[in-house]
Amino acid sequence: MILYIIAMQSNTDDRQPDSRLFREIERIHGARRWGSLLDAGTGTHSIGWVGSLVTERWTAVSGAEGHAAQTADAIAAKRRATDRIVVGNWADPALLAGERYDTVLADYLLGAIDGFAPYFQHRLFARLRPLVGRRLYVVGLEPYVIGEPDSAQARLVREIGRFRDACLLLAGEQPYREYPAQWAVDHLEASGYRVIAAKRFANRYKERFVNSQIDMCAPRLAKIADRGLAAALAARGEALRAEALAHVASANGLRHGFDYVLAAEPA
Ligand SMILES: C[S@@+](CC[C@H](N)C(=O)[O-])C[C@H]1O[C@@H](n2cnc3c(N)ncnc32)[C@H](O)[C@@H]1O
Repeated sequence: MILYIIAMQSNTDDRQPDSRLFREIERIHGARRWGSLLDAGTGTHSIGWVGSLVTERWTAVSGAEGHAAQTADAIAAKRRATDRIVVGNWADPALLAGERYDTVLADYLLGAIDGFAPYFQHRLFARLRPLVGRRLYVVGLEPYVIGEPDSAQARLVREIGRFRDACLLLAGEQPYREYPAQWAVDHLEASGYRVIAAKRFANRYKERFVNSQIDMCAPRLAKIADRGLAAALAARGEALRAEALAHVASANGLRHGFDYVLAAEPA
């Protein structure tokens, strides 16, 4: 079955932990119990939400020691003896082999895979499948650095994303690679799941997004050997920042792109 994503809800006010998306998962989940829960791509936002649920136990996976440590700090006050934080890679068949969870959350995991297991994206949902007892929830971001922008606001968000990715690549790092909701639906269906809900949420980016994306480039530019190139890029970043902040002020944010929530069950 092909499921087209038609439902849409506005409107985020920042790239903050987006409570609309977790509220949507809670709405879809209804009165079902959360049971044992796997946060398959953990971080401070998702673990904060997981900690607010009535679960029997949870396991949180990160591909990076640093990310796992931040997550552990964020949840320390609520963590029970049975709750685990695991550093591993989904490309490793031994990771959580033989385990099963009532509920699995993949919160912005798909887009981050490129940094940990390049070209593994099409296998991610099949890899998670034996771990999913009842429900898998996928949170993702529609790619927003590709395609022709259809407004001045869209152009600015796209340019900021492209500028950030260029700085990361020039510094020898791997940018995220986001995938469309329909791509995720198709791969879920091809990987032994039935998609039961799908919704997109329109994004509106504010100062925090603009500043965080430009600011994260400074340490990357410091690594570039060609100092003339680094200086030119830094100047370009500041010009982008000024232009984007002026738009944010006059239009109350930059409207562009979508986040999405998908819910799937073992077929
Ligand atoms: C963008 S962060 C997820 C956001 C997170 N849910 C939050 O609340 O901030 C992506 C997470 O997925 C993990 N990750 C990405 N690729 C992975 C892989 N191949 N194996 C295991 N973890 C991976 C990263 O280490 C990180 O913990």
